[in-house]
Amino acid sequence: MAAGLVTLVMLFALRAAWADTPANCSWSQVAGLWEFHVGAGGSDNRLKCSGFSPVEMFQLTLQFPDVVLDEDGNKGFWTMIYNQGFEVVINQRKYFAFSSFMKEGNVVTSFCNTTFAGWSHDLFGRDWSCYYGIRLKPGVPDVEPVTTRLVQTIDQKRTLRNDSDFVKAINSVQRSWKAVTYPKYHGMDLSNMASMVGGHFSAQNYPLPVAMDESTRIAVSHLPKEFDWRNVNGQNFVPDVKDQGNVCGSCYAQVTAAVLESRLRIMTNNTLKTTMSTQDVVSCSQYSQACLGGFPYLTAKYAQDFGMVEERCNPYHGYSTPCKPYHADCRRYYAEDYHYIGGYYGACNEGLMMLELVNNGPITAALDVFDDFRHYKSGIYHHTGLQNGWNPFQFTDHVTTFIGYGVDATSGEKYWIGQNTWGTDWGDLGYFKIRRGTNEVHIESIGVAMTPIVPNP
Ligand SMILES: *[C@@H]1O[C@H](CO)[C@@H](O)[C@H](O)[C@H]1NC(C)=O
Ligand SMILES: *[C@@H]1O[C@H](CO)[C@@H](O)[C@H](O)[C@H]1NC(C)=O
Ligand SMILES: *[C@@H]1O[C@H](CO)[C@@H](O)[C@H](O)[C@H]1NC(C)=O
Ligand SMILES: *[C@@H]1O[C@H](CO)[C@@H](O)[C@H](O)[C@H]1NC(C)=O
Repeated sequence: MAAGLVTLVMLFALRAAWADTPANCSWSQVAGLWEFHVGAGGSDNRLKCSGFSPVEMFQLTLQFPDVVLDEDGNKGFWTMIYNQGFEVVINQRKYFAFSSFMKEGNVVTSFCNTTFAGWSHDLFGRDWSCYYGIRLKPGVPDVEPVTTRLVQTIDQKRTLRNDSDFVKAINSVQRSWKAVTYPKYHGMDLSNMASMVGGHFSAQNYPLPVAMDESTRIAVSHLPKEFDWRNVNGQNFVPDVKDQGNVCGSCYAQVTAAVLESRLRIMTNNTLKTTMSTQDVVSCSQYSQACLGGFPYLTAKYAQDFGMVEERCNPYHGYSTPCKPYHADCRRYYAEDYHYIGGYYGACNEGLMMLELVNNGPITAALDVFDDFRHYKSGIYHHTGLQNGWNPFQFTDHVTTFIGYGVDATSGEKYWIGQNTWGTDWGDLGYFKIRRGTNEVHIESIGVAMTPIVPNP
């Protein structure tokens, strides 16, 4: 056991140098009987977990689809966080840790039966302690740890060539959306392109949307046919389009900030129009990997556990710089709640996303970015299947903010309205439409929502 702990601690220390983690753990590899080894409580959120010593342990069973049971039969909740780790809520405490992995040369082995050192605290975030988990028994028979091969040998300096032929091809094979060349991307290399989305190294592991149940279907039938938070009875609740730049894979921070900002506007009838610091998330959140990627669920968790500060407190420059203390007047904005739409990772669908969007405000949605999407200008996007042969990754993980939906008057095609984080000179003034109802580029498989706490004036 002692040797195991040393390994975990070493791995945890190494993680600092890592990205959007390359762990690729799925639900069936994590479900089962776990032993949590927990350190001393009594700390606040400044707690550092690397090298902690456990003082107690207990067992938990993680079951289908989101149920946790302790040894006394108390019931709790759990969810995967993409393929990166999992969160457990039981007996008035939350537990989150990344799944562990090891890297040897180009090969990354995920150990989905173990976590790195993670964070536990009571539901109010007062009493913090560290922990790690070891799975004693799988919940699903015959599940082996996965070995994922990293694509790190690619020449990241390969630059984007003139792509006018590619654009012509996109525009000739379909009529529902229009592509253009963006000269600002010419000369950019693969590393820049990866930084325009959510991360360099993550393995994909999207769940399928679940079927809509009867009550969702009925609720959706009462929704308006078209909805747009930029114009609700003449009022605009959507903050300006953000630009993450091309050196920082911070889309996860940008969209979480956009959702928090717009929902504060909605909750205050537009009297509180704050811009949150995404640099703060990039520099300070231990729940993400700075400019190398992260996830909206964990950024919203950061907003609950640590709070976000205003833009002026730490203006965005798009580099992974160290976290510094703020001036005393930098108040923090917190989230009361954050969750995967549908309740847990893997429970999402179009109808639930529409209901969440109309009832509570903009949401985050994950998607695959293919080469053709980078050329989007207007219309309703769907992946054409065309590649320009330049990007050997073929697609990358990205997240955007959905602010509305509708149906095209001529074609009858249903769409979502997304706000991207590539500035106003991309797409339709920074916005795009994308095909709705068919899980286009996985858009309906992972939605995240959160509820901000409205601060006193
Ligand atoms: C996790 O799984 C690997 C591969 O099966 C195994 O070598 C290792 O001992 C397991 N770890 C624990 C803590 O059970
Ligand atoms: C990640 O895991 C999923 C599901 O287990 C698998 O389908 C996928 O191929 C894995 N990805 C990589 C890069 O290994
Ligand atoms: C790209 O190539 C086309 C011809 O293939 C040319 O008309 C166009 O000016 C070029 N654009 C740039 C930015 O070099
Ligand atoms: C919200 O603000 C609008 C525009 O200022 C105003 O017309 C409306 O009455 C307000 N609604 C409420 C409920 O205060």
